[in-house]
Amino acid sequence: MYHFSPSILSADFMELGDAIEATTKGGSDYLHFDVMDGIFVPSISFGMPVLKCVRAKTNLFLDVHLMITKPERYIKEFAESGADLITFHVEATDDIAGTIDLIRKFDCKVGLAINPETDAKAIKPYLKDIDMALVMTVHPGFGGQSYIEECTAKIKQVSDWIKEEKLDCDLEVDGGVKLDNLDKVLSNGANVIVAGSAVFKGDIEGNTSEFVKKML
Ligand code: DX5
Ligand code: ZN
Repeated sequence: MYHFSPSILSADFMELGDAIEATTKGGSDYLHFDVMDGIFVPSISFGMPVLKCVRAKTNLFLDVHLMITKPERYIKEFAESGADLITFHVEATDDIAGTIDLIRKFDCKVGLAINPETDAKAIKPYLKDIDMALVMTVHPGFGGQSYIEECTAKIKQVSDWIKEEKLDCDLEVDGGVKLDNLDKVLSNGANVIVAGSAVFKGDIEGNTSEFVKKML
């Protein structure tokens, strides 16, 4: 099953409702929320109040990507604000297993992310316990960066582990994905695709439907 998850980080926040509507009309089923705290990553984005407003107006699957240090501090808030899936980073906490349990306790799906410089082995022991692995293909913190080619091998590695162990675990790729490198990302095993700048610049509905068409 393939899912397309436009990242609203690249949206014009004055037009956020219309922009989300356009991704829905374009055929996307997920929406990606990049939450940044200015500590785990250099920038600060948005948090629970924005998520709550979006949740009230859409049935899209809300895919929340926490780029925050010690994510366990905020799981309850993001779950109660309407997240369907909460992804946190292996690099961000000393208690990965406890944070997975906490997300489950609040009835959300669980995602676990790794940065480009982190060895894929860091996520391997947890693949059986999570719903989605997220391989970052840019350094987290900003939209509009270029895809880091060296990460392709890591997508393949994580995908192979998921297949070998026959796990029920999605594989999301986030960062620098455009129409022209989408095939490579998919053929290496990703089934959930994030794109920000490639969606929210220009014709949002048209951009979304181009991605969705290529993924089917
Ligand atoms: C980076 C974020 C990404 C980003 C993707 O920190 O996690 O989700 O918004 O944007 P593009 O597609 O422009 O790389
Ligand atoms: Zn993201």
